[in-house]
Amino acid sequence: MTITQVESVPLVAVVGATGVQGGSVIKALTESDKPYRIRGFTRDVTKAAAETLKKQGVEMVTVNLVVENKEAVYKAFSGADYAFEVAEGIMLIDAAKAAGVKGIVWSGLVSVKELSGGKYTKVQQFDGKAVVTAHGRASGVPFATVQAGLYASSFRTNPMMLAKQPDGTYAIPLIVKPTTVIPIIHMENDYGLYVRRALELPAFPDGVDVYTGGENITLGEMARQLSELTGKTVVYKQIPIEEFIKPFLALGLPLHIIEAVVEAFQFWEEFGYCGGQISTASKEGLARLPQTWAEFVKSADWSKALA
Ligand SMILES: *[C@@H]1O[C@H](CO)[C@@H](O)[C@H](O)[C@H]1NC(C)=O
Repeated sequence: MTITQVESVPLVAVVGATGVQGGSVIKALTESDKPYRIRGFTRDVTKAAAETLKKQGVEMVTVNLVVENKEAVYKAFSGADYAFEVAEGIMLIDAAKAAGVKGIVWSGLVSVKELSGGKYTKVQQFDGKAVVTAHGRASGVPFATVQAGLYASSFRTNPMMLAKQPDGTYAIPLIVKPTTVIPIIHMENDYGLYVRRALELPAFPDGVDVYTGGENITLGEMARQLSELTGKTVVYKQIPIEEFIKPFLALGLPLHIIEAVVEAFQFWEEFGYCGGQISTASKEGLARLPQTWAEFVKSADWSKALA
């Protein structure tokens, strides 16, 4: 535990401190033998997760990251050396810049529209982040991205990713081929390792894109290992789009969100999760190794997902 209030050590501002990505960053910095001051941004400092962070020595500040709230957002960054953020990106970058931070680590994602040559245009969760990345690159503040792989936990918590079949067995029922390769990552545990590495390099890695992942693994192999390690019958099942979107439609999700999910999978299958971009360093120099899919499966509780 090296979180301190000593003014001479770097102050890292972590946006979304009680969320998965922000939480993982704080975990990784806490594990470091280098000292940090950490300022965590959250919408509600009274919630339990915020209280826990406060007890660990994190300075928690309430800030609602909406553009109408610009002044408060700017104030929240004052004195910070580094910023990590997940939402309302452009305003955050401007606020971090105005505060004179030494570097911004942004949880970006590739531009699907660009890397697919305009074939897939609806994956807003990726393209929106890529727009923020472009803004950050142009801001003049040293700027690096640490891009999330596919959340391993989504297979444990999202019934669309792992579903019980009528015969009592289980399937990963998705629209792409079982040979589709995914950079799988235990986000809660491992994402912060990459952010910590960026902050602890001798020079801030300005201009660098880091693609995170415990390993590159096919969806078919994920199903096979999940089955082998849990002793349950789990198969990968490629299903038609119409069948895949039925539960989304039943939930009343807006069409553009459903299309974004469908096109994201199609892009991963055809162009790769990172659209062919290559990480200069994936695991080198991390404080510890990120978990593989098998390690995640072994460490996680599957009693509900495979009930
Ligand atoms: C996964 O593949 C990408 C693209 O080839 C590469 O940049 C990345 O380092 C690989 N990740 C791991 C964990 O091997």
